[in-house]
Amino acid sequence: MKSAVHQRAIEPPADRKGMPLLLSADGLRRTFGETIALDSCSLSIREGEIHAVVGENGSGKSTLIKILSGIVRAEAGTLDWLGRQASFANPRAAQDAGIATVFQETLVLPDMSIRDNVMLGLDGMIRRKMTPLREREAVRKALAAVGIGNLDIERLAGTVSLANRQMIGVARSLMRPWRLLILDESTSAIDIEDRDRLFEVLRSFRGEGRSILFVSHRMDEIHALADCTTVLRSGRSVASLERGAVSSEIL
Ligand SMILES: Nc1ncnc2c1ncn2[C@@H]1O[C@H](COP(=O)(O)OP(=O)(O)OP(=O)(O)O)[C@@H](O)[C@H]1O
Ligand SMILES: [Mg+2]
Repeated sequence: MKSAVHQRAIEPPADRKGMPLLLSADGLRRTFGETIALDSCSLSIREGEIHAVVGENGSGKSTLIKILSGIVRAEAGTLDWLGRQASFANPRAAQDAGIATVFQETLVLPDMSIRDNVMLGLDGMIRRKMTPLREREAVRKALAAVGIGNLDIERLAGTVSLANRQMIGVARSLMRPWRLLILDESTSAIDIEDRDRLFEVLRSFRGEGRSILFVSHRMDEIHALADCTTVLRSGRSVASLERGAVSSEIL
């Protein structure tokens, strides 16, 4: 059942309106003991859409993302992926479906090379099947896709800037085929210039018809990037607002 407060404020822009739904969540719920982390969360993401999730600390944003990424299971609610009911039993199942996630606590290991850090996205089986040459090519391609193709992949990850480490984390998520990239507060630690660089990368993905779901606390980021914004309050999605309908009162 759709939540009564789940609203579409204005029609989406014409170019996005005709795009098929990629993901549709309805009434997702998850508790941890006494804590209701997610009470009832509904949202829809179209192909080629950048979708923001906003909400106060503890409002359930990361829990939502963990459900979509197969890290935690929902106790109630439904999830449709490409028009079919889905439930991701583990991270691998979500990845196989085409969901790539950069978690809030994504770690780049400083004493490992950039190349090994990017390859952490793939399990040993796939990695063993790749020749070192193919592996280097794949890593360079993923780094180039996030605008850091100029970095020496054998360099230790701990020797590059924080923003570049963040981009290495994003590149890692891109090593498998994907249709939805999820970023949980990936911008909180980087400065404006680097953030703009990340935004350009995200827009280019949208231009390819792929979708982005990002968690943010910042109005300027939402205005700059989001086609649609879902607001979470105490674990409930209270609104889904199209671009232009978002104002600072929602935060
Ligand atoms: N594994 C867990 N065990 C117990 N409680 C949890 C767990 N994960 C989340 N919670 C609780 O559920 C609520 C929602 O947490 P969640 O991390 O989803 O919020 P958030 O919106 O991502 O917050 P933040 O903005 O701080 O990242 C919080 O009260 C949190 O303490
Ligand atoms: Mg969080």
